[in-house]
Amino acid sequence: MEVAWTKQLSVGNAVIDSEHQNLIVMINRIESMIKANDASSLSQELEQLERSLCIHFINEERLAKAVNFPFDQNKQEHKFVLKEFQRMKEELLAKKGVWTDSAATHYSNFLSDWLTSHVMREDMLMKPLLQTYDYKFWPGGKEGETNYTAGSTANLYLQLFDEPAP
Ligand SMILES: [Fe+2]
Repeated sequence: MEVAWTKQLSVGNAVIDSEHQNLIVMINRIESMIKANDASSLSQELEQLERSLCIHFINEERLAKAVNFPFDQNKQEHKFVLKEFQRMKEELLAKKGVWTDSAATHYSNFLSDWLTSHVMREDMLMKPLLQTYDYKFWPGGKEGETNYTAGSTANLYLQLFDEPAP
């Protein structure tokens, strides 16, 4: 199920909204590949998505701390979804492009359902608080600080949970 970003998905912060938009683009692209049984660049796309998820979760936590939002529930959700994501990635890559239509539906629904519930149920809890700040508010003020392109994904996991990837 292809997801489209609308204003209803806005959580009241420019950086987080733009990351959600990017995640939607990536997830829609991966879903089309899964539906087309196209495994040629699936591995790279999944790695890139995993990395973007880690960066996004680091940024959300950083923002939550800056506005004093209690983040425990969100953090649990992030940990859970990364674990599920890794399981799905391994399963899917092991199939090397050979899967049934129902498996394709199952895997692509996992990603789009997760994204929608992540934004609507978890991140939306921060919206009332975020709306008391400027839409472009960012801790430290420099958007450049949201980039973590130098570190490896393993380092991002360490930064997130103080423990290695599951
Ligand atoms: Fe988010």
